[in-house]
Parts: sequence; structure tokens; C-alpha cells
Amino acid sequence: MEQRTNSPYPRVDRPMLAVIGVLLVLSCVLFFASDRDHDWRYYQMAFKGEVASQFGDERAEQVTTGIQQIWVADLGRADRCVTCHQAVSWKGFENAEEPFRTHPLEPLKGHPIEKFGCTSCHGGQGWAVDVREAHGEVAHWEEPLLSRALGEDYSLSGNKGALIQMNCNICHRYDRETKGADAINLAKRLVDEKGCRACHVINNRGGRIGPDLTRVGEKAPEQYDYSRLSGQKTAFAWHVAHFKNPKEVSTDSAMPVFGFNTGQAQALAMLVLSWRPADVPAAYLAGAPRTDVPTPEQAAEELRMRTGPGAWFVETGCATCHSIQVYGVRSPAQIGPDLSNAVEDVQSRFGRTIDDFLREPTGTMSVVLSRQIILTPEQKAVAIQKLREAFVVYQKQQAEKE
Ligand code: HEC
Ligand code: HEC
Ligand code: HEC
Ligand code: HEC
Ligand code: HEC
Repeated sequence: MEQRTNSPYPRVDRPMLAVIGVLLVLSCVLFFASDRDHDWRYYQMAFKGEVASQFGDERAEQVTTGIQQIWVADLGRADRCVTCHQAVSWKGFENAEEPFRTHPLEPLKGHPIEKFGCTSCHGGQGWAVDVREAHGEVAHWEEPLLSRALGEDYSLSGNKGALIQMNCNICHRYDRETKGADAINLAKRLVDEKGCRACHVINNRGGRIGPDLTRVGEKAPEQYDYSRLSGQKTAFAWHVAHFKNPKEVSTDSAMPVFGFNTGQAQALAMLVLSWRPADVPAAYLAGAPRTDVPTPEQAAEELRMRTGPGAWFVETGCATCHSIQVYGVRSPAQIGPDLSNAVEDVQSRFGRTIDDFLREPTGTMSVVLSRQIILTPEQKAVAIQKLREAFVVYQKQQAEKE
């Protein structure tokens, strides 16, 4: 702790300090003179000018000056963005340059700025009044402005402004669909269609082959292994690459290649990164319930399969990934092959008997049977018996077809 009390700076000669001082002043002057990094006072003067030229001097005199702030007690946010973005609630600046443009009306209809501030949707550092700092383009700021510019940096394939939807979904994660968040909606449909829950817990429901994803968006960027990633080393880039081909960034991953295109992989990356605890009061969370519930159709289908001839496969959990067509069991995800003819298929694919395969499974099934569905030797014998019975039915069906 000694180091803390001593000055961390070495002794330097006075003339040297003077030179450094002059350089500092110079660089500050250059900094403020540069195009983008004007002081907030500059923007307020410029806005006043805009108002004067459009609405006359009288209106211009009414433009507020000084640091402006929206304080939202419920969210603990003090957003000073309006210090520069003064036109947000004005009519008549729809086509002006930023920061002097009227805010699009649609997003603010259900979210008045007095209640939501700016950063709950946009990100950025609310209290800062310097462009770079306010937009969060500084080191160690975890919530950068989710801007079009960042979308371009990330090479988004569709709408460059889509990144903001990650913040929408922090409050809207329990919605099946959120108007104005198309990328997130697409990703939510894919999660359902591809059956990610077969292997992952999401909102308290799902399997345990992969990690629980309920809070995966909280993982710090430093926690990812970027060693096999070419290009940008960001959590976003990691997830995009991972969705395209899990094994490329995560050796020996049991996660399948789903064949997602770039737009789908990017939408999924946005979705999973939005899965972090919402630091907002319950009233700010749209579309409760707190855990996902199956639709009535899904529930009815499940009941039918649970009470039918394929009940054992459904109850044991095999049907999350496998259909067993001979019993009318349909897996929504179909991550593994249909088990109706597994007895024969295992023999021809692996050159092993089904007994052998289940005793010492390989590939995904070795992970399934060691992490998600733990079977005793007796239960494995039942599994083999069930697979044999299914195969008998399968052979009968095939014979009838011929
Ligand atoms: C010091 C003045 C200043 C402050 C404070 C400020 N901005 Fe800006 N903002 C600008 C300027 C100038 C631009 C246009 C140039 C640019 O993008 O840098 C801009 C652009 C933007 C854009 C469009 C950028 C894009 O690429 O999509 C958004 C969104 C935005 N600001 C949001 C915010 C939010 C949210 C805050 C508060 C956390 C904020 N700004 C605070 C000056 C400011
Ligand atoms: C409910 C969420 C929400 C809130 C709250 C909100 N915005 Fe926006 N803002 C949006 C959306 C959505 C867009 C449109 C983005 C698009 O069209 O791609 C937008 C657009 C903008 C733009 C234009 C940049 C662009 O991409 O078109 C600026 C600047 C901006 N907002 C600043 C602010 C400021 C300042 C506040 C606070 C006074 C604020 N916003 C509050 C959601 C919000
Ligand atoms: C801080 C939390 C929060 C954020 C961030 C947020 N919302 Fe909302 N949103 C809400 C709440 C709360 C409601 C009211 C829901 C209700 O009444 O059930 C709502 C309502 C809505 C509605 C329905 C009301 C309407 O406007 O017709 C839509 C659509 C919506 N939000 C879309 C979005 C989009 C798109 C974004 C991102 C740009 C966003 N929300 C960001 C909390 C949030
Ligand atoms: C057959 C099982 C399986 C399926 C199906 C599956 N995953 Fe995975 N997933 C895994 C395994 C195992 C890992 C851990 C190894 C790795 O990182 O690839 C993983 C890792 C992940 C990670 C990284 C988690 C972290 O903490 O870094 C995400 C995100 C993810 N999966 C999302 C999904 C989504 C979304 C789907 C559906 C489109 C899906 N997974 C389908 C098995 C699966
Ligand atoms: C999380 C998804 C998942 C679950 C749950 C699951 N499996 Fe599998 N299973 C797979 C995948 C994926 C394959 C294909 C593996 C491969 O080709 O390496 C597979 C392959 C098999 C095979 C080989 C089939 C063939 O035709 O080659 C058998 C047999 C099998 N599983 C039985 C079961 C049984 C019995 C259960 C329930 C106790 C079960 N599986 C549960 C994903 C799963």
C-alpha cells in the first residue's frame, strides 16, 4: 500500500514540466477546434441559430441554455443528452443534422422521455456532456451508444441501427414479439424453431448440455477466448462466429452447426447479449410472466405424446432432440436422427450394436448421457429394449409399404 501514498510520477525538471504544460494547452485547443468534438455550449449556440432562422428571434430567446438533464428516479438515471440534443421534442427539425434533429415519434409513444430518459434505450453515459464520453466511446465503459456507427463497425448485414434492440430486449425479453425490434424477433423465432432449449436453460426452462444462457449477456468481454477468432475481438463477433460454426471458436463443442446466414447469426448474437438482468423496477418490464410458458398448442401436443406408445422416450427426455416417427413422437427441434430405426442405423454408421453404443456413446450422445440424462445400467437396458421394440414396428411399416 506504500505505493499509493507516494506520488506515482517520477521527479522531472521544471523546464520540462513547462514544455509539457504548453503542449497540453495546445492539444486542448486543437481538440476543441476539431470538427466533432465541440463543447456543448457550441451546440447550444448553433441550435439557437437554427431556431432563429426557422422560427424567428423571439422563439430563439426561449431556448433553454446551460446543462440540461432528465432525472428518472425509478431508473437511477440522470441523462444529460438533451444538453446537446435539444431538438428531441421540437417539431420542425425532422431533417436537421444531429444533434439538432427531432426525435422519431414512434419509439417515444410508449416510452415518454420523462419516464425512460435516453440511455435506457440508447446506452451511453448519461451524465457526461462531452460527445465522446456521452456516447460511451471510452475505455471500460460497458454500455456504449448502440448507434448506427457501431452497427457499421460491426458490419451488420441489414438495418445498421438494429443494435439498439439489445437494450429494448432487456425490458422486453419475455415478449414473444416486440414491435420495432425485428432482429430480436427473428432471433426469438430461431431459438424456438431450432430447439436451443434441448441443450440450454433459457429463462429457467431447458436442458443442461450447454451452459445456462439466462444471463449470458452479463459475461465480461475478457471472459471469451478469442484465440481462434480472426478479425474483431468483441463478444459480438465471438457470438456471430460461434453461431455460424461453434467448433471454429470453441474446440470440440457439442453445439450443432445450424447453417445460419450472417443476418441470422447477428440477430442471435444481439439476442443472447441482451440476456442480462434488467436493472429496472418490475413496472418497467414489459410482457410478464417471468418464465417462458409453452403455448396451448405446444402443451396439447406434449400431452398427446406423453400418453401415447412413445411415452417412455418423451418422459426420459429423448424426444427433446429425437423424433420417433413410428410412435407419432415429433421432436420440435430434431437435433438428432429419428430413433425408429436406430438399431439398424447405429450398426451401419458406427459398425457397433445398439447395446454397445449406449454403453459407451460417442459424440453428442456421450455429453447427453453424462450431463443431461443420467441412466443407470438397468435404465440403459430399458432404453435398448425400447429401441428394439420401435425397430420391430419400423420393419413392419416398411414391409407394408412394399
Ligand atoms: C456534447 C454534445 C452531445 C452530447 C452530450 C450527446 N450527444 Fe449524441 N450526438 C452529438 C453529435 C454532435 C452527434 C452527431 C455526430 C456524431 O454522431 O458523433 C450525435 C449523434 C448521436 C446519435 C446518432 C449516432 C448514430 O450513429 O446513430 C445518437 C443516437 C446520439 N447522439 C445519442 C446520444 C445520447 C443517448 C446521449 C446521452 C447519453 C448523447 N447523444 C449525448 C452530440 C452529443
Ligand atoms: C424507447 C426507447 C428510446 C428512448 C427512451 C429514446 N430513444 Fe432515441 N431513438 C430510439 C429509436 C428506436 C430510434 C430510431 C433508430 C432508427 O430509426 O434506426 C431513435 C433515434 C434517435 C436518434 C437519431 C439517431 C438515429 O439512429 O436515427 C437520436 C439522436 C436519439 N434517438 C437520441 C435520443 C435522446 C437524446 C433521447 C432522450 C431524450 C432518446 N433518444 C430517447 C429509441 C429511443
Ligand atoms: C426500460 C425498459 C424499456 C425499454 C428499454 C424499452 N421498453 Fe418498450 N416498453 C416498456 C414498458 C414497461 C412498456 C409498457 C408495457 C405494458 O404496458 O405492458 C413498453 C411498451 C412497448 C411497446 C407497446 C406500447 C406501444 O408503444 O405501442 C412497444 C411496441 C415497445 N415497448 C417497443 C420497444 C422498443 C422497440 C424498444 C427499444 C427501442 C423498447 N420498447 C425499449 C419498457 C421498455
Ligand atoms: C446439442 C446441444 C446444443 C444445442 C441444440 C444448442 N447448443 Fe448452444 N452450446 C452447446 C454447448 C455444449 C455449448 C458449450 C460449448 C461452446 O461454447 O460451443 C454451447 C454454447 C453456447 C453459447 C455460448 C455460451 C457461453 O457461455 O459462452 C451460446 C450463446 C449458445 N450455445 C446458444 C445457443 C443457441 C441460441 C442455440 C439454438 C439456436 C443453441 N445454443 C443450441 C450445446 C448446444
Ligand atoms: C440434447 C439432444 C439429445 C438428447 C436429449 C438425446 N439425444 Fe440421442 N442423439 C443426439 C444427436 C445430436 C445424435 C447424433 C449424434 C452423432 O451423429 O454423433 C444422437 C444420436 C443418438 C443415437 C444414434 C442414432 C443413429 O441413428 O445413429 C441413439 C441410439 C440415441 N441418440 C439415443 C438417444 C436416447 C435413447 C435418448 C434418451 C435417453 C437420447 N438419444 C437423447 C442428441 C440427443
